[in-house]
Amino acid sequence: MSIIKLKEVNSTNLYAKEHLSELADKTVIIADRQTNGRGRFDRVWVDLGGDNLFMSIVLKPSDKFLNVYPNLTQYLSVVVCKVLEYYGLQPNIKWPNDVLIKGKKISGILSETVTQGNNLKGIVLGLGVNLNSDNETLSSIKDKEATALNIELSRDIDKDEFTEKLTSEFFRFYDEFLRKGFVFVRDEYLKRACFLESEISVRVFNDVKSGFVKSINDDGELVLENDKKEFVLTMGDIL
Ligand code: BTN
Repeated sequence: MSIIKLKEVNSTNLYAKEHLSELADKTVIIADRQTNGRGRFDRVWVDLGGDNLFMSIVLKPSDKFLNVYPNLTQYLSVVVCKVLEYYGLQPNIKWPNDVLIKGKKISGILSETVTQGNNLKGIVLGLGVNLNSDNETLSSIKDKEATALNIELSRDIDKDEFTEKLTSEFFRFYDEFLRKGFVFVRDEYLKRACFLESEISVRVFNDVKSGFVKSINDDGELVLENDKKEFVLTMGDIL
């Protein structure tokens, strides 16, 4: 693993995609500031300042796209939880990969794949974690209630220390995860998942699907039931 540290960039994901051919497998890109941070479904990821984590992990596991790759975001969400637990918090995962503290979002993940024809050029796994902020600044995040680690712990957080714990935990079981797939982390994921066995609505692009959460299956998909019929969602945003 190698780390590239940037002072300011539009988005670490965009940077990683633009420089993908020159970047080795397992390169981590970290920026102090992002001027155009991006979230899932084309949302904005607000820059809360240089003491927060804006990171992209460049992965080039194979030339062909494998079914396990979409689950990397869920693997990473478990890793984020483990690090937050080390700091004494009790995080939850909101399917598929948001990490929450007492219902407030502390971390988001955006995975992007770059392909050329049938060839996979690489995966860019982007992660934002709110490490140091204040309630006034967090209120500029309009779509969801958010929190930051320093607020939860009432002390400043050392970004380098947090980043070191996160990257080492990520790469500790990364190869095993690729071999075994989502089932490798399913139990760890489920024990932190919220909204299980409850009625929910999920936005999938311009559509909203509602139902009772039956489970999260071995592929990490959300299994819902509505009108005694089961259906499976592979992506979406729980409302
Ligand atoms: C989401 O919750 O919608 C995903 C947010 C992902 C944000 C991170 S910050 C680092 C990387 N660069 C980006 O532009 N986005 C991701």
